[in-house]
Formats: sequence, structure tokens, C-alpha cells
Amino acid sequence: MSTSGLLKGKRGIIFGVANKRSLAWAIAQAAHREGAEIALTYQNERLLENINELAPEIGAKLVLPCEATEEKDLIRVFEAVDREWGRLDFLVHAIAFAKKEELEGEYLKATADGFQLAMNVSAYTLTAMTRIARPLLAKAEKGSSVVALTYLGGEKVMPGYNVMGVAKAALDMSVRYLANDLGAQNIRVNAISAGPVNTLAARGIHGFSEMLKHVRDKAPLKRNIEAQEVGDAAAFLLSDYARGVTGEILHVDAGYNTIAW
Ligand SMILES: NC(=O)c1ccc[n+]([C@@H]2O[C@H](COP(=O)([O-])OP(=O)(O)OC[C@H]3O[C@@H](n4cnc5c(N)ncnc54)[C@H](O)[C@@H]3O)[C@@H](O)[C@H]2O)c1
Repeated sequence: MSTSGLLKGKRGIIFGVANKRSLAWAIAQAAHREGAEIALTYQNERLLENINELAPEIGAKLVLPCEATEEKDLIRVFEAVDREWGRLDFLVHAIAFAKKEELEGEYLKATADGFQLAMNVSAYTLTAMTRIARPLLAKAEKGSSVVALTYLGGEKVMPGYNVMGVAKAALDMSVRYLANDLGAQNIRVNAISAGPVNTLAARGIHGFSEMLKHVRDKAPLKRNIEAQEVGDAAAFLLSDYARGVTGEILHVDAGYNTIAW
């Protein structure tokens, strides 16, 4: 794709780049191509080498560690953004986690710990970070945009998705409640429901390669999606072209969610 300058003059932060396969990275590349200035966060020191390699590719100067379940980390991140930019035009939440043993077999065996962990990391962090970022998002001149990443397993049962499906259902509803809370300040909140893409997080899901094949066979477009397609859809939702869109779950899944067989 060549640039359309869709995000020229915008400044945004992206949570969730682990490596070059991350959906967050595809979004960062699309946003950069469209002219945005980008800040990145990374979960922990283990990812520092990857992020140090990737950040210069998109000219990201603000690169900060952030354990998203730690409020003090979130506060520190948005204080740094405030010092650097004094406002925020967009925020991307591309974070999820569940223990591997929760992602196979019956949902029924979910433990309280496993349930709470998946819910906290994959759903609650969106609410926490949006609340802390709110004053900065409210300062964006032409309104601002928050985008989260979700999955169909939060709407329909997917074998093995288990606690993560329950967490995605909570994330989807959080998007709608947040959209309602923040709309008066012209802060839009949406999610992209991506089809399966082979990333680090996806590899933790039992039967992931069968899922890829099933979607390829059944989806209207008769193929899987590419991370870049999520990046381009995100660029739209982050842009002024989507100024009338909030509380929406946009499926970027080759149409798979429309099929009932
Ligand atoms: N890959 C897919 O098939 C697919 C499909 C639909 C939705 N998604 C969603 O896309 C998002 C990004 O996942 P991905 O597939 O790019 O995988 P990924 O492994 O590249 O990204 C997941 C990110 O979450 C971060 N993370 C996990 N726990 C964290 C914590 N406590 N604090 C801070 N960061 C934390 C990881 O460091 C990593 O950067 C997730 O929300 C995932 O559920 C993925």
C-alpha cells in the first residue's frame, strides 16, 4: 500500500509489540506509513532487544516499558506522553494473555486464577489505560480514537479459546461502555475482530493450525487474512475518516464471522 497521509499530524501510542509478527507491529507500520508519530510500549526486558530493533524502523522515539496490569506503569507511560506531546490522538490496545493450560480441552475446568488473569490482562487493562489516558485523549483537536483487538471467540464458541473467549466478550462490552462514557469528549472507542494470524500469542492456542485451515476453507474470501490487513483497517479507525464510528467491532476476518456452517 502507498501512503494516503491518513494520519498526518497525529500522535499515538501502541501497546503490544512483541516482535515483527505482532498485530500491534502491523498497526504501527500502517500508522507510520500514513504519517503518524508513534510511541511504543513493551511488556518487559525480555522484549527489549526486539523493540530496540523495530522502533527505529518507524522512527519511534518514545519507547517505554509497561506491564499493563500495573497502574503505576500506566501512569508513568502517560506522564511521559504528556511531557513529550501534551496530547494523544490515538491509543491502540493489542494485549492479551491466558495460561497455556487454560487454552485446551473443556472451558469448564477454568481455574479462578486462570480466569482472573486472562480477564485482567486481556479485558480490564483497556479500561484502566483509557481512564488514565483520558485527559490526553480529550486534548486532541479533532477528536481521538482508541482501538482494541478482539476475536470472534468472544461472540461464539471456538474450541480451545475458553477463558480467552470470555475475556474477549468482556473486552467487546468494555469497548461499548467506554464509547458511551467518552463520546461526549469526542473520544471514539472501537475494536477490530481479527481472523486468525500466526503470532506469538496465537501459537498458545491448542489447534491453531486447524483453525487457520478451517477459516481458509469456509470464509467468503477463501483465504486467511494478513496482519497488514489489520494494520490498514486500524489506520482507518484511527483516522478522521472514521469520525462517525464508535462502539463498533469491525471484523477483519475474510468474512468468516458471517458464515454459519
Ligand atoms: N493472532 C491472532 O490470531 C489474533 C486474532 C484476533 C485477535 N488477536 C488479538 O490481537 C492482540 C495482539 O496479539 P497478537 O496475536 O499480535 O500476539 P503477540 O503475542 O504478538 O501480542 C500480544 C502482546 O500482549 C502483550 N502482553 C501480554 N500480557 C501483557 C501484560 N500483562 N502487560 C503488557 N503487555 C502484555 C505481549 O507482550 C505482546 O506484545 C491480542 O489482543 C490478541 O488477542 C489476535
